[in-house]
Amino acid sequence: MKYPIVFLVFPICLLLLLFLSTPLVSISNKAISIPASQDGAHGHHSDSCNFSSGRWILDTTKRPLYSADCPFHRSVWNCGKNKKPEAEKMSQWTWKPSKCSPWASIKPHSFLRATQGMRLGFIGDSLNENFMVSLLCSLSAVDAKARKWKRRGAWRGAYFPSQDVTVGYHRAVVLSKINLAGTGSGFRVDIDIPADDWSNVTQFYDVLVFNTGHWWGYDKFPEDLPLVFYKQGRPVWPPLSIREGLAAVLKSMLEFIDDSVPATVLKVWRLQSPRHFHGGEWNQNGSCSSSDLLSSTQVEEWFDPANGGVNREEREVNDVIRSALNGHHGFVLLDVAKISEFRADAHPSLWLGGKDTHLVWGQDCLHWCLPGLPDTWVDMLVDVVLKHVQSAQ
Ligand SMILES: *[C@@H]1O[C@H](CO)[C@@H](O)[C@H](O)[C@H]1NC(C)=O
Ligand SMILES: *[C@@H]1O[C@H](CO)[C@@H](O)[C@H](O)[C@H]1NC(C)=O
Ligand SMILES: *[C@@H]1O[C@H](CO)[C@@H](O)[C@H](O)[C@H]1NC(C)=O
Repeated sequence: MKYPIVFLVFPICLLLLLFLSTPLVSISNKAISIPASQDGAHGHHSDSCNFSSGRWILDTTKRPLYSADCPFHRSVWNCGKNKKPEAEKMSQWTWKPSKCSPWASIKPHSFLRATQGMRLGFIGDSLNENFMVSLLCSLSAVDAKARKWKRRGAWRGAYFPSQDVTVGYHRAVVLSKINLAGTGSGFRVDIDIPADDWSNVTQFYDVLVFNTGHWWGYDKFPEDLPLVFYKQGRPVWPPLSIREGLAAVLKSMLEFIDDSVPATVLKVWRLQSPRHFHGGEWNQNGSCSSSDLLSSTQVEEWFDPANGGVNREEREVNDVIRSALNGHHGFVLLDVAKISEFRADAHPSLWLGGKDTHLVWGQDCLHWCLPGLPDTWVDMLVDVVLKHVQSAQ
């Protein structure tokens, strides 16, 4: 009974491959002709060096700075404690850029000293929270008196008394005001109103790290219950698609930031990181339980939007973000995307703490285990922050 199916599927796959190879080529040619101004995307690093070009190398001598006992952990991301196989390996992979020296690992003591008295704010969705928890755990490893901090509308955060440093996360999944209670016709997003959770903190922090990304997908808001965009209190007409809405929200949030964030504040935009659902969406049994990294070829197969795969979102969303940020030279772009595409090994997957959690919610192939990949993003951020602090002196 199985043979006929195999015979049918194979020719179809071959046909698809042949058919897809033509648009693939023309699209990658387009990507190469991105204007030179996009070089600013590499932040404060020297222009001659492309940090995204390189590979992951396993360094079995490497040890993470913090353990499963970090008091700022979220249990669903605590993969060591949740017994994910080979969990220690996730933080031993080290990114080696091919033409430049790698980011230095964060030195928590000297970072806290350098940022004495400063406040660092993360604003955006749970991936920014994931990112911040890595920073909190690294810093708390050297400050025994670190304590939870949750003021000014912060969702979570920490205070480090040894150097009077505050780090907070403000949850604002689409940055704009959104009504997640929804109505029969969808979810209202006011493109010109920043969410309450962060609109009052633009004068409070010395460093702001923004992100938004995975809420801008049809898997989250189905077409019959879409995001409905409002401007000046009225529905935008004709209605915007979800990606047009993203562009409109970014434009108006960037204007708000330009107007309300003091010029001395370091503004960082963290790009969308990739998901790794294999074999289906998050709610269709998509999985990421392997501890293997993707090859360069697999990365293109999974993420090139021309292939129409379930993970294409990252590059599509990042294209919109990059063009919105073009012209806002005040921002440093933290390009976590490319290096993270290889890391199909680094998500919590099935190991979410509760015995049957994944059966209810699906596997988590979106957030990242800690310790793990976000520790490398922290090294990138630390580099940017330290350069900012030095240049301000
Ligand atoms: C940097 O390298 C990555 C990975 O090879 C590539 O996708 C990207 O286009 C490069 N960026 C620039 C500005 O050349
Ligand atoms: C933000 O500030 C405005 C005006 O000062 C105030 O009305 C509002 O309640 C504040 N919101 C939050 C969340 O603190
Ligand atoms: C997911 O897997 C379960 C158990 O194997 C199965 O019952 C269910 O139909 C699958 N769901 C989808 C959407 O494939």
